[in-house]
Amino acid sequence: MSLSMPPLGAGTFRLKGDAAYHSVATSLKQGYRHIDTAQIYGNEAEVGQAIADSGIARDALFITTKVWMDKLEEDKFLPSVNESLAKLKTDYVDLLLIHWPLPDDGVAMERYLTQLYVAQQQGLARHIGVSNFTCQQLDDAIEILGPGRLYTNQIEVHPLLQNHKVVEHCDANGLLVTAYMPLAVGKVLEEPVIVETARQAGCTPAQATLAWIRQLGMATIPSSTNPAHLQANLDSMAVTLSPQQMAAFDALDRGERLANPDFAPDWD
Ligand SMILES: NC(=O)c1ccc[n+]([C@@H]2O[C@H](COP(=O)([O-])OP(=O)(O)OC[C@H]3O[C@@H](n4cnc5c(N)ncnc54)[C@H](OP(=O)(O)O)[C@@H]3O)[C@@H](O)[C@H]2O)c1
Repeated sequence: MSLSMPPLGAGTFRLKGDAAYHSVATSLKQGYRHIDTAQIYGNEAEVGQAIADSGIARDALFITTKVWMDKLEEDKFLPSVNESLAKLKTDYVDLLLIHWPLPDDGVAMERYLTQLYVAQQQGLARHIGVSNFTCQQLDDAIEILGPGRLYTNQIEVHPLLQNHKVVEHCDANGLLVTAYMPLAVGKVLEEPVIVETARQAGCTPAQATLAWIRQLGMATIPSSTNPAHLQANLDSMAVTLSPQQMAAFDALDRGERLANPDFAPDWD
């Protein structure tokens, strides 16, 4: 039996070398059991070392990695996954994602989703999923793989970019949404409505934001290099916002997208 995704995980984007090691080691000591990394983050080896040093049983952990855009061809896909597993010092990941959909002139989706499915069939990944997929791309992916195969779509969601269309499309198709950049890389912490809502709820702005995401039914993966912040984020699991406090967050959407590289798809 594979573990289902704990709703709160530790992200590792931008964390390199010792910073990645210490963030993951601290998270695991504090009680996190879900770690999110990616080939492109360049930290799978440090993440793997921190996991190995933690002594936590492998089956008590949920580890996600993501296949980068230059590894989607048949001759590169599975070797890259095996390299990730070697760095992570594990035989399998709990979740393997396609990091970004390729533009139409790249490797066809059917080809790389087939590789993703083969990775799962070979036992290299317990669950498979996608990231940064639009509604149309999700429809195409479900058409290719069949319904029920994709576990999650990992997308940018925070109070300033609520991504309703994609979230609703994931819900309608039975995919979990994993919200990345949940704190808008710190931007939400200064937002007056969030500061006030958190004060009312007796918690910090970061905790209120993470509770709002959890109460919407999404998983999320905030990152931090600061042990007190990691602990505070974990403690958000005990925060419950009232319907009025949830509504205050709901009203903050202003389509403020942070992750928008030039290869991004045509967003919904
Ligand atoms: N699939 C994708 O394409 C994609 C794209 C982007 C991100 N992601 C994933 O999502 C994860 C989260 O995104 P992110 O790291 O970019 O942004 P984020 O989690 O929204 O924000 C991280 C920032 O917030 C600060 N922070 C964290 N907890 C805090 C707290 N309790 N109080 C105050 N400040 C706090 C951190 O600073 P300190 O270190 O000082 O605490 C850091 O600067 C990534 O690490 C990655 O795993 C995926």
